[in-house]
Amino acid sequence: MAPQTEKETAPDCQGLNLDVTRRQFLFIGGVSLVALSLPSSLGFGGQQSMQAMVAAYPRTRIGSVSELKLNDPVTFKYPYDNTFSTNYLYKLGAEAGGGVGADKDIVAFNTICPHQGGFLQGRFNPENQVLGPCPLHLTTFDLTRHGMVVSGHATQGVPQITLEVEGDDIYATGVLGLIYSFYDNNVAPA
Ligand code: FES
Repeated sequence: MAPQTEKETAPDCQGLNLDVTRRQFLFIGGVSLVALSLPSSLGFGGQQSMQAMVAAYPRTRIGSVSELKLNDPVTFKYPYDNTFSTNYLYKLGAEAGGGVGADKDIVAFNTICPHQGGFLQGRFNPENQVLGPCPLHLTTFDLTRHGMVVSGHATQGVPQITLEVEGDDIYATGVLGLIYSFYDNNVAPA
């Protein structure tokens, strides 16, 4: 029997016809594809399309706007039901990066320090709207600026959970940043 060629045309994926290898197609299976058009002013020599792979996350209801109290974080697990996926949902009372709701002040962040896994539960400081200092090496994260590091040893911000509001319901839709202990947020822990 003649050997199968490795080059195959993938089925139409979100409106895109793609010519990819079998290996690429298997990888693409778990993620979404986004097509971008780049203008020539960016040095790409005219309109060319570029594809970015975006991790796919579940859209999960995690709370309601009416039950959320100012500076009183609510715990939820996302995207998995394990310790490292423990997050806080906050109403900060002031507009924050990535905030949703009428006042754009509802945000959510992971509670495991991205440096070496220090537990940040119970370390929300409402006066300064920061999470921390971490009990291990004192890193503090600014919750109004996407969880960026304010001070301490961590070199990346605490992962932010992206949110959507629909009526009174709050949904988690994704994670910005790698959750501590994961090498890929999309790979479920064993
Ligand atoms: S583990 Fe949090 S600063 Fe090191």
